[in-house]
Amino acid sequence: MKKPMKIALLGLGTVGFGVYEFIQAHKDLELACAMSLVVPEGVTCPIVADIETILRDETIDTVVEVIGGLHPAYEFVTGALRAHKNVVTANKLLIAAHYRELVTLAGENGVSLRCTAAAGGGIPWLTSLERTAAQEPITRISGIMNGTTNYILDTMHRTGSSFADALSQAQQLGYAERNPADDLNGADIRRKLVISSNIAYGCVLDEAEVVTEGIEHITGADIAAFKRLNRVCKLIAASRRLENGVAAYIEPALMPPSMPESAIPQNYNLISLTGEHIGKQSFYGQGAGRYPTAYNILQDCLDVSRGVSGFYTDRLNEAHVDNSSIRRQYYVRVSGMDKWLQEKVDKILDYGMITKEVSVPEIHGWLKQRRRTDPGCFIASLR
Ligand code: HSE
Repeated sequence: MKKPMKIALLGLGTVGFGVYEFIQAHKDLELACAMSLVVPEGVTCPIVADIETILRDETIDTVVEVIGGLHPAYEFVTGALRAHKNVVTANKLLIAAHYRELVTLAGENGVSLRCTAAAGGGIPWLTSLERTAAQEPITRISGIMNGTTNYILDTMHRTGSSFADALSQAQQLGYAERNPADDLNGADIRRKLVISSNIAYGCVLDEAEVVTEGIEHITGADIAAFKRLNRVCKLIAASRRLENGVAAYIEPALMPPSMPESAIPQNYNLISLTGEHIGKQSFYGQGAGRYPTAYNILQDCLDVSRGVSGFYTDRLNEAHVDNSSIRRQYYVRVSGMDKWLQEKVDKILDYGMITKEVSVPEIHGWLKQRRRTDPGCFIASLR
């Protein structure tokens, strides 16, 4: 009989405790030990105080990292890969920021690096992307990839609840990042888009090049205006493969009710890929939360124990972001007119206005300047 895979679990927080429960209940996996500053009641496995103990232990095959954040997660994960241990992580911040280095390190050390829970929570999105990208040129990715912001927008639309109340509910339900600003300002969804695009197109994008606008400035009055327009606001991540480079951006978008994204409730995500021959495929499920996220970590561990090796791709081509070909109309809500807006406005609404078609770099460039004097202004593209 095959010996169970021996795992060291780094982190026993919201997701970590879910992983702990799943591993303890699975016959093919053995939890050797955990390392965590806080140990929840009921945890019975050995707790180790330092990473070196884990790295020196040759019986441990796999390190599961669910501490989050860049440090010390970076040191722990690189240490584990160098010690020839497989790594399973949900840490999108770490993977997006050190993508090339970590993928290379896993390859050089002949071990697995898996992070399916890092994008799409409990949806088998990255594994589907891996399978598709291996044989089908992927041309586009788009969708709702952050559970917290979807929960907030859905709650505001459905119940008329305030932004602050909806955020506090999302935090209580365990959807938000340790620093919820990362959800609200789009940093979290940007990391997920970068990882997904890298796997889809076989490239390495620099996060800083991905134009990002979140939902932190949306108000109840904006939502009421969207209802009058018969549109639903969603935070959308999108990328496209270009002949030379990649278009990639994050922005609030106003969807007509006929688009599937409009119907996505609570903490759910809907992520789509478009393949050259297969057309569009969409993946739906809970994008955040203890058990959905822990489920994908468990699946990664099982894949590794069944012999899945390396990362989802070994293609690491340098690519730059160019959004100049993407043009749309935008809803804009500002505290007063300016010269650029005057030129671009198409229609003044009873609240906010609609612009003519403008390019993504143009409107996001204008927005960045505008924020200096009008910090609460808000934009959303029309779909
Ligand atoms: N804060 C993230 C979200 C957690 O709300 O989507 C899952 O990645």
